[in-house]
Amino acid sequence: MHEGPSVANVLKDNLENWRLGLMKWLAKVTIIRISAEPPELYKELNKGKTQGTHCLVLCSFFWRGFCSVHLGLVYFCMTIELARQKRRKGSMNSRSRKLMLSPVQHLYETCSEVFADGKAGFVPPPKDIERLRSVLDNLKPENVGLSADMPYFRATGSDEVPPPVTYLHIYECDKFSIGIFCLPPSGVIPLHNHPGMTVFSKLLFGSMHIKSYDWVADVSYSKNQNTHHEDLAALQHEPRLAKVHADSDLTAPCKTSVLYPNAGGNMHCFTALTPCAMLDVLGPPYSDDEGRHCTYYNDFPYATFSGDTGSLQAEEMEGCGWLKEMEKPESFVVVGAMYRGPQFVEN
Ligand SMILES: [Fe+2]
Repeated sequence: MHEGPSVANVLKDNLENWRLGLMKWLAKVTIIRISAEPPELYKELNKGKTQGTHCLVLCSFFWRGFCSVHLGLVYFCMTIELARQKRRKGSMNSRSRKLMLSPVQHLYETCSEVFADGKAGFVPPPKDIERLRSVLDNLKPENVGLSADMPYFRATGSDEVPPPVTYLHIYECDKFSIGIFCLPPSGVIPLHNHPGMTVFSKLLFGSMHIKSYDWVADVSYSKNQNTHHEDLAALQHEPRLAKVHADSDLTAPCKTSVLYPNAGGNMHCFTALTPCAMLDVLGPPYSDDEGRHCTYYNDFPYATFSGDTGSLQAEEMEGCGWLKEMEKPESFVVVGAMYRGPQFVEN
């Protein structure tokens, strides 16, 4: 909403104009004075007196010096004042403009700024993380044209097969992407990773269960004697130890969650408890060309395998599990759909 000028702002503007006017007047007066000689010098010279002339010339020299310093100070103060006013007006214009922006335009512009230097492994500074998180915290389903009664959220699956998930693509460039996953009840997004990415996830409405992991460094795998041979035969690659970051239910409205390349639950899976919509900002997005593939995982309890746990203590192993790469599950069906919410203008 646009805010009109307040009485305080009008008074402040008038005061600043008055200050600037005073400085201009001082500068004018000083320029006039600097070009004038001390009147006494002319009087003495006109009288033809030479006695004491040296003293008057010296006085003239100091007079001009004093006036020059005065003019310099006035000029310096004027420069500072003009710069301050320009900065204030610029910041007011930027604030007023942001107040008038549509939420989705505000989101797009904030992502553009936060991920301006985005590349794999880039983590925005904390103040930018908070800025984008705050924009997402205030985002409502209606701001992106969504409501729970839309067809994307209707239960269509069976007990064995989870229903398809709909992806609404909003925007993508090489720095970041914005999109919304729409899940009917029991919809599942299987465990997957976000290589080198910072990801903001905002649950717009509904409830879901989230489980997420981060890698535990320097832990190698070895076969556990209790593991069945046929189970191992099904494994294509060695499993890696990961620590559970979150294993809980999430219900909107709630704070935006953020994951990082090496923390915050970089591998996660979602299971819809009710119809729900999750808006994701990925920075940078997946790119097969740049080696940022989406990899899917099966998770196994820690006891399934043993490993060289290095310096990790037994209690630190609690809450750990083994993640094993797998092909994208056939039961996971994502249907792309056109984003029909409020539009925005690209920079
Ligand atoms: Fe994800």
